[in-house]
Amino acid sequence: MREWLRVVFAGRPAWMNAIFLFCVYMAAIYVPWDLFLKPVERDEEVWFGILFHGTAAKLLALPHWFVYGAGAYGFLRMRPFLWPWAPLYVLQIAIGMVVWAWLYTDGWGPRLAGAVAAVAFGALAGALHRARPLFRGGPRNLRERYGRFALVTGASSGIGAAFARELAAQGLDLVLTARRAEPLEAVAESLRREYGVEVRTLVGDLAEPGEAEAVADAVRDLDLGVVVQNAGSGDAGAFATRDPDRLRELCLVHAATPAVLTRLLLPGMLARGRGSVLFTGSLAGAQPLPWHAVYSAAKGFQRLLGEALFVELRGTGVDVLVVEPGTTRTAFQQRAGELPHGGDPPEEVVRTALEALGRQPSVIPGWLRWLRTQVVVRLLPRSLAAFLAGARMRRLLPPERVGPLPTARAAPGPAPGGPDGAGPPA
Ligand SMILES: NC(=O)c1ccc[n+]([C@@H]2O[C@H](COP(=O)([O-])OP(=O)(O)OC[C@H]3O[C@@H](n4cnc5c(N)ncnc54)[C@H](OP(=O)(O)O)[C@@H]3O)[C@@H](O)[C@H]2O)c1
Repeated sequence: MREWLRVVFAGRPAWMNAIFLFCVYMAAIYVPWDLFLKPVERDEEVWFGILFHGTAAKLLALPHWFVYGAGAYGFLRMRPFLWPWAPLYVLQIAIGMVVWAWLYTDGWGPRLAGAVAAVAFGALAGALHRARPLFRGGPRNLRERYGRFALVTGASSGIGAAFARELAAQGLDLVLTARRAEPLEAVAESLRREYGVEVRTLVGDLAEPGEAEAVADAVRDLDLGVVVQNAGSGDAGAFATRDPDRLRELCLVHAATPAVLTRLLLPGMLARGRGSVLFTGSLAGAQPLPWHAVYSAAKGFQRLLGEALFVELRGTGVDVLVVEPGTTRTAFQQRAGELPHGGDPPEEVVRTALEALGRQPSVIPGWLRWLRTQVVVRLLPRSLAAFLAGARMRRLLPPERVGPLPTARAAPGPAPGGPDGAGPPA
């Protein structure tokens, strides 16, 4: 608990932590009470120093709720959007103090008090204005902070290639891995040319025994600062029809190999007292995903692994992050057998991940996806979430991948395995 509080309150001066707590209180307790429980006739709301009553006050509590909610989240993650909005909002309160005292009080005493409060809030606005460097998102200089080299698995296309590009742009030398030599070398060559960084390539299949050890050996003597465990693929369709070897591959690439590779690379990072490990998880790991059952289970493994390591490694100088993209515009969909359905650009996933690195155990790119995931995962019964996810997944698949359907229940005669004689769908 103490360590958790330390993580939550780290990276901000005490006065800013006080603002953060105030925002949490307003967003979670005061404004909901004000909105939903306080009688309309007693409701009052102040904006720009002007007092509103009744229904107008109720309506104007909504933007207050939004402001304090955004403030609570923004201070928690020290998001760049807080600057200049936080100092401007506090400045609005400072001006409001003078206006309010002038409009609604008599005599110089209360007006002087309003002016004093305005000065105090003005000073707070100034302090927030000067604190701009704190709202910087993620670590700026990854090379300085973590080390000279970055290892990116699955860098021949998609999110991995986007990670490699961004890390090269930040001046890190790279070790890139994938199975297909040609696209991997093309990515490496373009990064050497554009950014002048050193790029080494390793061709190999991370589902093969001994591959994690081979990668670890290849980077053993490097000042390895950033490890992006990104390689992966999906195989959508009815579980009962999937190729067992392919299912084994998914388990190995998404779960066993990242765990073993992290284990092999960590001692070097711990000895150097710095480093970072990122896992490209997936929103599919946040809940069961029928028709992507093994992929979803393996991504769930990755998520729990990364979030556990984040806590274990606090204070060692090694940061861990699981980035959980939703649908992303890469070759993944086509390779997994899904119908094409667009998605976020991979660069967005990379930007979000690097901003969150060192600040939190996991991150979901896109606030709407984040919100949807919180509702589905935290508010709905797990079984309902699975049904909803399954219904959506079925729409994203060609019909031949969806079957066999549960209509097999109607088949005559006892089927093996099921207590009611129906057995699993065949
Ligand atoms: N696109 C999405 O909608 C989405 C959403 C959430 C999470 N993700 C995750 O994002 C990661 C990257 O996928 P992507 O979307 O960028 O798809 P992608 O363009 O197909 O990239 C996958 C990368 O992983 C490599 N890879 C796959 N299997 C491998 C293996 N057995 N051994 C070594 N390398 C392997 C691929 O290279 P080779 O084929 O050359 O080996 C490729 O470089 C995956 O972990 C995926 O699960 C994707």
